[in-house]
Amino acid sequence: MTFTKLFCAAALGCLMAAPVAFSPAAYAQDPIVIKFSHVVAPDTPKGKGAERFKELAEKATGGKVKVEVYPNSQLYKDKEELEALQLGAVQMLAPSLAKFGPLGAKEFEVFDLPYIFPNKTVLRRVTEGPIGKQLFQKLESKGIIGLAYWDNGFKVMSANKPLIKPEDMKGLKMRIQSSKVLDAQMRALGALPQVMAFSEVYQALQTGVVDGTENPPSNMYTQKMHEVQKHATLTDHGYLGYAVIVNKKFWDGLPADVRTALEGAMKEATTFANDIAQSENDTSMAQMKASGKTAFHEQTKEEREAWMKALLPVHKDAESRVGKDLIQAIYKEAEAAGFKM
Ligand code: LMR
Repeated sequence: MTFTKLFCAAALGCLMAAPVAFSPAAYAQDPIVIKFSHVVAPDTPKGKGAERFKELAEKATGGKVKVEVYPNSQLYKDKEELEALQLGAVQMLAPSLAKFGPLGAKEFEVFDLPYIFPNKTVLRRVTEGPIGKQLFQKLESKGIIGLAYWDNGFKVMSANKPLIKPEDMKGLKMRIQSSKVLDAQMRALGALPQVMAFSEVYQALQTGVVDGTENPPSNMYTQKMHEVQKHATLTDHGYLGYAVIVNKKFWDGLPADVRTALEGAMKEATTFANDIAQSENDTSMAQMKASGKTAFHEQTKEEREAWMKALLPVHKDAESRVGKDLIQAIYKEAEAAGFKM
C-alpha cells in the first residue's frame, strides 16, 4: 500500500486531495463571468431574452460560464454602458440600434428612419442578410463584436395632448435616444428633440422637463410612462430593436468550445426574443389601455398618410449621415418583399 492510499484509508475522505483545492488548476475552473448589462425592465422582450440567454449559456457550457444579468440601468446608463463594454467592465450588452452613433457607427441610425420597414419581414431580410453582417463588421474596429439582432417593436408617439395631425407635434419637447436621425425626425415634425438616457425619461416626463417621447408599448408600460402621458398615437412610425454585442477581446479570448456553445445559446435566445417581442408589446398595450391613464389614438388612413408625408423627407436628409447606398439597399429588400418604396 502506498503512502497516499494509506493516508486516504486512514482519513474519512481523502485529505490528500485537499491541496489540489489551492492549486492553479482549481482556479482555472472558476466560471467565466459574462456581465450582461441593459437598461430596460426584466419584463420586456430584451429583459426576457437576456434571461433566456443566461439559462441556455450556463447549461450549454456545463457551468463553465456564469451570466450575470443587470437590468434597468442598475450598472450603467445608455452611454456609459457602451464605454464600460469597450473598457471590459462588462462583457455583453444589447443597446438599441439608435445608440451606436456616438460610438462612431452612425450607419446603424438607418434603422431609425421613419417608415423604412413596412413590416418585420423586411426588417428580418435586412438584419439576417448581408446588410446586417456589414453593419456588424463596422463595430470590430471599435473593439466590439455583434452577435445578434433582437426585436422590440414599432413605436407610439406620446405626449400630454392629442397627437392627431403632424402639426400637433409643433413646439413639443420630445425625449429621443442619441440618434441624429431621430433628431431630424422630430425636427421634421416641428418638435424640439432632447437626447436623454432611458433611465431618466419617466422623471423628465413627470416633471415636465420634456413633453413627450416615442417608445414601443413594452418600454412605455414597464417604465410606467403611461402614468405620466395623457395621450398617445399608434403611429408605428419607427422601429426599435437591439444589437447584442460583446467585447471583442473577451470573446476572441474564450476557449473555442466555450465560444461555440455560447454562439449556439445566442442563436436560440435570439429566436426566443424575436418570437415573444410582438406578444410582449401587445400585452403591454392591453395593460395600458386597461389602466385608462393614457388615451390611445388609432390613426385613420388619411392621418397616417399625413404623418408619412411629413416624415419621409427625413430619408433624403439622412443620406449624408447613414449613406445613400445603405438606404437604397434597404429599399431593395422592401421591394423584393413586394413593397413599393
Ligand atoms: C430607449 O432609450 O428608449 C430604448 O433604447 C431603451 C431600450 O433599450 O429599449
